[in-house]
Amino acid sequence: MPRVTFRMPDGSARNCEAPAGETLLHIAWDNDIGIEGACEGVMACSTCHVVVDPAWAGRLPPPEEEELEMLDLAWGLTATSRLGCQIVLTEALDGLAVSLPAETRNLLDG
Ligand code: FES
Repeated sequence: MPRVTFRMPDGSARNCEAPAGETLLHIAWDNDIGIEGACEGVMACSTCHVVVDPAWAGRLPPPEEEELEMLDLAWGLTATSRLGCQIVLTEALDGLAVSLPAETRNLLDG
């Protein structure tokens, strides 16, 4: 099974294994990693914002326009920011590393 590392805001890291085809949001939920995912993956909240390790960013399929629009509203946006609900783990992404931002902004609360 492919592995993914979640780097936490406190500097710790969590290494997880998950079947290919799972989104990072669901992997985080399954492993009690603090990604909220308030809209449950329909690109309406940005609380699943993750920062992809630059070494991996170019290996992910590029974001759809809708994802970019939602990211524009995310707190702490970076050049390699993505929505965790839109990243699907594959065997080719074995070893992927992402960081969780210190805060997220829930647009559903707005
Ligand atoms: S879970 Fe809401 S945008 Fe990803």
